[in-house]
Amino acid sequence: MTPSAVRHFLRDDDLTPAEQAEVLALAAELKKNPFARRPLEGPRGVGVIFDKNSTRTRFSFELGIAQLGGHAVVVDGQTTQLGRDETLGDTGRVLSRYVDAIVWRTFGQRRLEEMAATATVPVVNALSDDFHPCQVLADLQTITERKGEVNGLVLSYFGDGANNMAHSLLLGGVTAGMHVRIAAPAGFQPAAEVLAAARVRAAETGGSVTLTDDPYTAADEADVLVTDTWTSMGQESDGLDRVAPFRPYQINAGLLAYAAADAIVLHCLPAHRGEEVTGEVLDGRQSAVWDEAENRLHAQKALLVWLLEYEGAQRR
Ligand code: CP
Ligand code: NVA
Repeated sequence: MTPSAVRHFLRDDDLTPAEQAEVLALAAELKKNPFARRPLEGPRGVGVIFDKNSTRTRFSFELGIAQLGGHAVVVDGQTTQLGRDETLGDTGRVLSRYVDAIVWRTFGQRRLEEMAATATVPVVNALSDDFHPCQVLADLQTITERKGEVNGLVLSYFGDGANNMAHSLLLGGVTAGMHVRIAAPAGFQPAAEVLAAARVRAAETGGSVTLTDDPYTAADEADVLVTDTWTSMGQESDGLDRVAPFRPYQINAGLLAYAAADAIVLHCLPAHRGEEVTGEVLDGRQSAVWDEAENRLHAQKALLVWLLEYEGAQRR
């Protein structure tokens, strides 16, 4: 098989709008019937590598792979030969001889691209510095459950507009036809390349992208309010003030009052009550964060089934 027959999921716009809708429909099916699909029966293997901490991603991938009939080899990247400078290219080639997919949480997006360049099995981004696309599939599933649809809804994100969640919500949101508003302070706005890609995708789907530094403008009549930590993994010592500039962007009862009356609140977790979101909102009736966390399991299973079937279809 040539590497070109393999589909990877390194960022949200690696799926077309129609493909993303297929994955989300499958996620809803798998939530109802968790053991219906067994593409990894054997068990066939999936490599799940972590270069950063994780609770949800680790549990949901390991269990999800088992539910698909497979076996997850879960490793801390530092304990593999990657931690002793074996090249990403060689690692991609070798792992492809063992496993049917590689799921990887790491730092730079470039690392994922390098692994994918030689892997002959799908590579899935389980969070990088730049994107967290598996999370956004779960977010879209959660929004669909609560609202009946995603297309045309307004999703507003508050806080670090330059981080992985902001980028993935931009790309994944407009792919689903959403109107994505990013409210972020100066110096923490999304990367120009991601904004440009999101605008191109929005033009295809009827979605839109709005950038503002005013949280109240972003919250106005919004259907979905989302936030994330002000300090992402790896940014702990970047020398930037990651508190004062973000305080006005906290999701609290006052900000939520500007949103639609039936707005929901999402957070990928882990949350910092009293910083990016108040405990009152996170634990309140409009919060959907626990369903959102659960949906990581269903959405990622659907993604793996979709990727494996796509590969299988190309091979036939
Ligand atoms: N939301 C998320 O990815 O959580 P973990 O870091 O716990 O995997
Ligand atoms: N932006 C956060 C997301 C954690 C799931 C981080 O990268 O740490």
